[in-house]
Parts: sequence; C-alpha cells; structure tokens
Amino acid sequence: MKPLIAYFTHSARHSTQRVANTIHVLTNGDLLPIIPIRPYPAEREWCEKMVTEQLTSGDYPALCPTITAEAFAAYDLVYLGYPAWMGTLPPPICAFLATHDFAGKHIVPFSTYENSGLGDGVEQILSRTNSLGTLEALAFHVDDIGSRRWERTMIGWTSRTCR
Ligand SMILES: Cc1cc2nc3c(=O)[nH]c(=O)nc-3n(C[C@H](O)[C@H](O)[C@H](O)COP(=O)(O)O)c2cc1C
Repeated sequence: MKPLIAYFTHSARHSTQRVANTIHVLTNGDLLPIIPIRPYPAEREWCEKMVTEQLTSGDYPALCPTITAEAFAAYDLVYLGYPAWMGTLPPPICAFLATHDFAGKHIVPFSTYENSGLGDGVEQILSRTNSLGTLEALAFHVDDIGSRRWERTMIGWTSRTCR
C-alpha cells in the first residue's frame, strides 16, 4: 500500500517540499501539498504576526481542496511534513488535521527547522487526531538537506517506517 506524503512548505528554499519529494522517490508514495488559500507573507516578521494571531485564536486558514475524504480513507500511512513555526505546528497543518479522519492510520511526522526541531509537533498531532499513533518523527536542519549524511538518514528512515 502506497503512503500519502502530505506537506506544507512556505519559504523560498522549499525545504519541506524537498524532503517530501525525496520520501516520494524512496517510497513511491503519493504527494499532497497542503496549500492555504490566502498565502502567508514572505517577510518573516509579518508572517510571524499572522501565525501568532491564528495560533492564539484557533482561527486556522482555509485550505485549497486537494483530496476527497474517500481518497484519503484509502491510505493507512501518512507522512506529514511542515516547517517548525513558533516551536509548533503551522496553522495550515492544524487545519489539515481538523479536516480529515485519521482513524486506522499511522502518521510519520517530519519537520524542517533552523534551531528548534520538532518542538511540540508530535504531541499536537497526537492530541488533534484519532490516529493509531505516530512512527519515528524526524526533524531536518535546513542546512543538512541534500547532504550525503541526510541521504543516508532518509534511506534508513523510510525503509523503517514504510514497510
Ligand atoms: C513564521 C515562522 C516561524 C518560524 N519558527 C521557527 C521555529 O520556531 N523554530 C525553527 O527552528 N525555525 C523556525 N522558522 C524557520 C523555518 O522552520 C525553516 O526555515 C523551515 O525549514 C522552512 O521550511 P520551508 O522551506 O519548507 O518553508 C520559522 C519560520 C517562519 C516563517
């Protein structure tokens, strides 16, 4: 059974998308970009302001429709990727988790970051879904992505989590 690889990416480096694309190559899984209808500002200060407002209010963004509930139900393994934002999940990931039914699925969280890794992302994913649980969450420093060491990590991680 193919996994689903759902991810949100924002910066011009598209670090999370690069990791998602590599998971796709290694697992033959299906890619699903998570895209908010209203884009976040490119400028960090304004982006943080908008994100803080959404995290505080719980008013998460509307997402572009990408997958039907029926199609989503067919997957039993979901890789879920995001940039670490304010030490936690970006609001579009919160919106995605609230939109879909994760019963019967395992989730493999992964994040990209500059200094704070997964933050409380795994705890948030577990508390916001009815999934079977998470498998081996990994965080990738932006400057490691593309290195030989990172490639070896990706091969080992995907072979352990996608069987
Ligand atoms: C609003 C905002 C908040 C961020 N918060 C954090 C953070 O708490 N910890 C961290 O290590 N990096 C933080 N970053 C940096 C991103 O996590 C990092 O650049 C990430 O790799 C970007 O992934 P992307 O290219 O897929 O968007 C933040 C970036 C933005 C725009």
